[in-house]
Order: sequence, then C-alpha cells, then structure tokens
Amino acid sequence: MTAVGELVPWLPHAGDTLLAMSTPDPELFDKVVNLCKRRGFVYPSAEIYGGFRSTYDYGPLGSLMLRNVKDAWWRSMVQLRDDVVGLDASILSPPQIWEASGHLANFTDPLVDCTNCKTRHRQDNLDDPDTCPSCGKTGTFTEARAFNLMFKTQAGPVEGAGADVYLRPETAQGMFVNFKNIINTTRKKPPFGIAQIGKSFRNEITPGNFVFRTREFEQMELEFFVPPEDADEWYKYWLNERRNWYLDLGIPEDMLMMRPHAEDELSHYSSATADVEFMFPWGWGELEGIANRGDFDLKQHSEHANEKLEFFDQATNERYVPHVIEPAAGATRSMMAFLMAAYDEEIVNDETRTVLRLHPTLAPYKVAVLPLSKKETLRPLAREVLAALQPHFMTEYDETQAIGRRYRRQDEIGTPLCVTVDFDSLEDNAVTVRDRDSMEQVRIPVADVVSHVAGALSR
Ligand code: GAP
Repeated sequence: MTAVGELVPWLPHAGDTLLAMSTPDPELFDKVVNLCKRRGFVYPSAEIYGGFRSTYDYGPLGSLMLRNVKDAWWRSMVQLRDDVVGLDASILSPPQIWEASGHLANFTDPLVDCTNCKTRHRQDNLDDPDTCPSCGKTGTFTEARAFNLMFKTQAGPVEGAGADVYLRPETAQGMFVNFKNIINTTRKKPPFGIAQIGKSFRNEITPGNFVFRTREFEQMELEFFVPPEDADEWYKYWLNERRNWYLDLGIPEDMLMMRPHAEDELSHYSSATADVEFMFPWGWGELEGIANRGDFDLKQHSEHANEKLEFFDQATNERYVPHVIEPAAGATRSMMAFLMAAYDEEIVNDETRTVLRLHPTLAPYKVAVLPLSKKETLRPLAREVLAALQPHFMTEYDETQAIGRRYRRQDEIGTPLCVTVDFDSLEDNAVTVRDRDSMEQVRIPVADVVSHVAGALSR
C-alpha cells in the first residue's frame, strides 16, 4: 500500500499541457461493441421492441465481468483494509437529501430548443452557440433553461405534494446521511471510510458512446472522513491508490492519465479534484473523479436535518466536522475501459486471432473444460474435471465444434486457461492446459488440475 503523503511524481499541475501518451483508435470502438453483442457481454435493452435508447443489458459474460470489476474494487477498498466499512443505501430517496446536497438547485445542464427543427441541445456542447447542428439554421435557439438531471417519481398511491421521490443520481449521499449511524454502530473514527457500490440514475441529455454515458449506470464510491488538517495528505494518498488499482488490473500506463481540475473547473466546495482518465477510442475520457470535498456535505446535512454530524475525539476532548476525500468511480464505464484495453488481434497461422487479454481477476470465465471430441467415452472424465474446478473458479464447459475453434472462442472472451481432455487422458489420467496469451500447452495429472489452475491464474 502507498504510504500516506508519498509524493505524486506523475501528477501534473493543473493547467499543464498534457502529453497524449497513447493515441485514439476509432476502429477499436466498433470491434469491441460488436464483440460485446456477438458474444453476450452487453446487449441493447429491449431489443425485440426495437431497443430503448442508450440502455443496455449485461449478458451472461458481461454480468460476470461487471461483477468481477465490482468485486475487485470491493476487495481493494473494503476487504483488504481495516479502516473502511461498506454500505448499501436505498436508491429511492426523499427530496430533502437532494435539497441539502445541492442537486435540486444545481444538478442541471443548460438546454436550448431549436424553433425551426424542434430539436433540443445542450448549450455547452454546441460548437457554435447560435447555430443548430441538426438543421444548420442560425438564430433559431430559445433562451437556455436549466434542465435537472435527476429522475423524479412518486412513492405510494397518492399523487401530489409530499409524495415526490428521486432515483439517486450518485451513491455518495447515502454515505453522508448514514455518517452518524455508522460512527455509532461501528466505533470507527477518522481517518475511516464508507464504501458503496450501486446503481445511479441521471437523465443525461446526450447519452452515448456505448456504456460510457448512460442514464442508468453503476458507481463505486468511497467517502473517506479525515481530520481537516490531514486532508491534503489523504487526497494524495487516494490519488496514488486509485491510479494503481487500474494499472494492477491491466490498464497500460500509457492509456491512463491523472488530470487535475483547473481552478475554474472545481466545484465550489472542492479544494482539489483530479480525474482518472482513460484513452478511449475517441480520446481521453473520465473513469473516476477524486475530490477533496472539505466539510461541505456533512455541514449541509447537519443544517438541513438539524442533526450534529461531527466527531468527538475523546483523546483531545475536541469536536470537529471531518473533511472528506471522495474517490468516485463508474463500474460500467470501467468495465468498458478494461475491455478496450484488453482487445487485441494477432496473426497466427495466417489467420487473425482475436484475444481479450483481460486480467484473470476480471475475465468472465477463468477456465474452460474442452473434451477433444463429443464422443461419449471422453465425457465422464471431462465432467469429472469440470466438477473439480467449478467450486473454485467460474468454469465453462464446451464440447461443440473442432478444438481449434473452441480455443479461439475462449481467446475471444478472455478465458485465461483451457483444459483439454483427450483420448490419452483415459490412459494417463492427465490433461492439457493451454495458456490464452502464450498459447503454450502443458500436460498435468488430473489430480493436480485445481492447484495448477490456481497457480497459473495468480501469476
Ligand atoms: N459523487 C461524485 C460523483 O458522482 P461523478 O464524476 O459525477 O462524481 C463518478 O461520477 C463516476 O461515475 C464518473 O467518473 C463515471 O465513471 C461514472 N458516471 C457518471 N455519470 C455516468 C453516466 N451517465 N454513465 C456512466 N457512468 C457515469
């Protein structure tokens, strides 16, 4: 783990010109989106009804991989630490929370309508603020109006005032409103954090780029509460930790950048924020924001709820409102980045081999059991190997098609290892294990298959 306060040599100063270390690759986008659909990672939602714009369903492989992304985050942020606890707060939330957080007043985008072609646009995204990009007419826009991005609905059977509820636009507020509960029930004291993974909803005006920006998405957020005087050190600490998380899971260094916000980009309550950015096929895009939020959130909720949200330090006999460092990441967006970074094509025996070089932690299946042929004679041993592996690893079983094609199918979905049961296996009680990346094969006794796979996956 990074020592608190360690220097951050790779962090440029706000406003510095950043060198694009990697370059955009527009073709990669279509290749990965096609693979996702073809192999069951991500499907457009409600496709049999013609689709439902910018919503997606995570298929058999995507649901496994998304779970792996979230598990990897939880392991690093909660399981391997003794200063972070978890939370799973409700998605439906009362207006008071969003009043206090500022979302009711400020979580808006400026919208303009074209009076000629009746299309609606985000004013801040227009190349020319006077010209409609849909019909090309100039001077046809209405005055900009603030469009709130929160989804509002009604709770209970009675329509009207008092029944309004919101789908949370971020998981963060659940952590702030539970601060007192958690202090009282866990006896944690600053520095400590609350972590949460879950769905958030934003009525984005311009969703797009596959699962990069959607109206329903998953976040992985940590609110880390610290004594005010230590906030700068912890901010640097979390920049380091979060950068390393992506690198450790296989994002190449030249596709990752930390981008500090310039002064005029900072939220009014934040003294420092940096984004973790990834080189998507269209250019750099945010994966995560790490912010020093000061005491803004706890103070706002204290005031609005009329509850003291502070910490009493028995050692010094002092009461204070902790400051908050918030690493806020997107799970669905990170999954997309991991897929983009892992996609590779190479020529093997005059044919293109597509291989997802996913980190084993993220790969949907860790291992596939492939009997050499469909013949009845191989099946009992192959199923025995499958049964031995299943309790330990997500394992796929496939006996269709020629073995070479089955290897390629596993390469394409990122399965790190394939175990082949052949006719010799019936004699020598051994199997062949093939490595996805090197395509090397080794012969090992059936009795060693679980320990061999465990060893190979952890290398
Ligand atoms: N609590 C702070 C917060 O929510 P944010 O930068 O708005 O900060 C954090 O969101 C992360 O959530 C983003 O870096 C991104 O990965 C993800 N995210 C935000 N909006 C998203 C959207 N519409 N679709 C997919 N992911 C989104």
